Amino acid sequence: MKEIKKIAVLTSGGDAPGMNAAIRSVVRTGLKKGYEVYGVKRGYHGLLNGELEQMNTRDVSEILQRGGTMLMTARSKEFMEEAGQQKAKEILEVFGIDALIVIGGDGSFRGALDLSRIGVPVIGIPGTIDNDVSSSDFSIGFDTAVNTALQAIDRIRETASSHERCSVIEVMGRDAGYIAMEVGIGCGAECVLIPEVAFDLEQDVCQTLLTGRNMGKHHFIVVLAEGAGSAVEMAQKIEKITGIETRATVLGYVQRGGSPTAFDRMMASLMGIMAVECISKGKFNRVIVHRDGKIKDIDLEKALAMSKTLYAGSMDAVRQLF
Ligand code: F6P
Repeated sequence: MKEIKKIAVLTSGGDAPGMNAAIRSVVRTGLKKGYEVYGVKRGYHGLLNGELEQMNTRDVSEILQRGGTMLMTARSKEFMEEAGQQKAKEILEVFGIDALIVIGGDGSFRGALDLSRIGVPVIGIPGTIDNDVSSSDFSIGFDTAVNTALQAIDRIRETASSHERCSVIEVMGRDAGYIAMEVGIGCGAECVLIPEVAFDLEQDVCQTLLTGRNMGKHHFIVVLAEGAGSAVEMAQKIEKITGIETRATVLGYVQRGGSPTAFDRMMASLMGIMAVECISKGKFNRVIVHRDGKIKDIDLEKALAMSKTLYAGSMDAVRQLF
């Protein structure tokens, strides 16, 4: 096995709280193994511009508790092309990088797989608030985003209650409903609308709200995943159909910031350690995943071939609580 001397780490795709914890863990675990550790600024875009900086243990002080990514992230069209991937490989060779750790979602892992196919050893760490990484039950940032959204909705519920209104809150998640489902159940929403489960606005939403009003409810919360519609449009329709004064809130990017929760910090730290351990054992082209309550490594190609379906049964179960 080729002796490992230098490793690099980058963050890719949407940033997520906890990414800094993973970076800190990779850097310090790598240094402890005697490796030189390089941070790649601005994801694959920065890699193509040779933006690699050697890191020491002090470079990752005081970042564990900070949201965002100290390495920054950026999307790169050039890297999507074979020529860009070849250029990335050459740049890594110029710096003498023996293995690259990519912190991001499945899109970032597909780029990592392309690199592995032209001879660059890679390891993936799931980091996206969407929690839509097909091979892992959890991705870094999801738990923090859920708690951020939940705190915001608890506040919105107070004003909805004062004005006897319905509030439609749109949460992130791209095409997935993981954030919406966990937040919807957590805040006791009357309706939780996700892309994975078809719904009829009149039957499933308006009827539920009117039934609630007949039961004496004076305010209502509807949580809507961005992949299932627009809160602004839905609020207008609900008010028109039900006559209930309705307001829309798009939580947006507040869900991407904030200090990571203990869960995200712990998961990110353990995943960073495992990523470097894989490299030290010559186990390349793996994804570090959280599956069935354990953190383990699985083959990158197999990970990307997996599919993950959101279990919506919890929503049905809690419906009786509305
Ligand atoms: O993938 C994370 C995410 O926040 C999604 O939930 C959201 O739809 C998307 O990123 C927004 O992308 P951008 O930051 O490029 O606007």
